[in-house]
Amino acid sequence: MEKFVVTGMENGLRGRVQISGSKNAVLPILAACLLTQDICEIRNVPPLLDVEHMAELLCAMGAKVDFDKEKEIVTVQAEEIAQAEGNYEAAGKMRASFLAAGALLGRCGQARLPLPGGCQIGSRPVDLHLKGFQIMGAKNRQEHGMVELTAKNLKGGEIYLDFPSVGATENIMLAAVLAKGKTVIQNAAAEPEISDLADFLRKMGAEIEGDGTDTITITGVRELHGAVHTVIPDRIEAGTFMTAAAITGGDILLEHAKEEHLKPVIAKLAECNVKTENTEDGLRVYRKGKLHPIQLKTMPYPGFPTDMQAQFMSLMAVAKGTSVITETVFENRFMHAGELQRMGADIKIDSRSAVIEGVEGLTGAKVRATDLRAGAALILSALAAKGDTEISDIYHIERGYHQIDEKLRQLGAEIRREEE
Ligand code: EPZ
Repeated sequence: MEKFVVTGMENGLRGRVQISGSKNAVLPILAACLLTQDICEIRNVPPLLDVEHMAELLCAMGAKVDFDKEKEIVTVQAEEIAQAEGNYEAAGKMRASFLAAGALLGRCGQARLPLPGGCQIGSRPVDLHLKGFQIMGAKNRQEHGMVELTAKNLKGGEIYLDFPSVGATENIMLAAVLAKGKTVIQNAAAEPEISDLADFLRKMGAEIEGDGTDTITITGVRELHGAVHTVIPDRIEAGTFMTAAAITGGDILLEHAKEEHLKPVIAKLAECNVKTENTEDGLRVYRKGKLHPIQLKTMPYPGFPTDMQAQFMSLMAVAKGTSVITETVFENRFMHAGELQRMGADIKIDSRSAVIEGVEGLTGAKVRATDLRAGAALILSALAAKGDTEISDIYHIERGYHQIDEKLRQLGAEIRREEE
């Protein structure tokens, strides 16, 4: 197992950083490649562990997958689906494997996958995914921790999502593109990753409207063909580097970041007295004066992203004054608070709210990454702390951030990888 050792910075991060392709866009797009027997070429794919897990799963189902990590291109051809299922080993490692369910249902009318388990941030049920499939005529049987879905003929239907779930919206879209008739998803998620999936599916010949709004209409077609697609930049990686510039009082330029996907993060950084400028070279982020405390509430897009909540808690830990963060999306996404307290942060948790009293400065300590974004938040607090911080269980971080240590070193950070 490896750990990061981060030395607190006297001056802020400076320089340019290249934002990679979006993890949360590429995972459903790879699942969508199961919907055609033609070749699909996906570009700007970050070589992350989660992407490799999804590639392994597609291979286990009979697809040919080539992942050129240098060029960041994945080529998939699911000429035939040898088995419309993923075993616990292949699919149990990553919740997003469940996105194969919709694609398998659409392609071959059946799917057998492990029921995704919970994780640190919440129970993460898939009841809304299953509700959508049932409305489309799929039978759903669960035993021994596996979900078995069968649909003689998948038909379109009217599906209302009790919560605008990203995964449920994506999974239903994947099942609906080849179903008979029209599917309408009400209270759908509107994240940019949903629109990126819709763009890819349309290139394959799907008929989809309304992605990016709360009502998505899919009209089933007879078959889909191969396509070439470049994945959107990762708005959460971009937001994480923006927050790194903010917490260290730096001045950085993000290349490839899409400003329109970052509006809620830009708005809240502005409230903290952090400036953002869209230049022809990229998105410039810098802080001149002191950080201001803020009130923050995570919401489904276009609200403030839950995946940026931990990073902002690190920022608020050193913003003089009282800040309040409310986490409305997941029921247990404050695991990073305890680790930040070990570094001297003053944080009080009350169910879904955290009250943070900004302190003069944090001190380096031994801490543990509990999940992907919590781990990223600890790197940020370590950059601003006095002395060295050791962050263990960094495999969580590397699931979602390609070469985060190298990218930070290019910006002047002192961060090295060591054996635990
Ligand atoms: C996606 O997870 C992202 N993962 C998450 O990013 C992100 O935090 C989340 O969306 C919210 O934006 C990927 O895209 C691979 P949800 P997902 O379904 O689809 C409840 C990261 O850090 N819910 O929108 O699993 C659920 O319990 C990861 O990159 C149901 O109740 O999120 C949660 O409280 C972490 N029933 C809320 O909805 C369901 O059937 C949001 O979940 C589905 C979800």
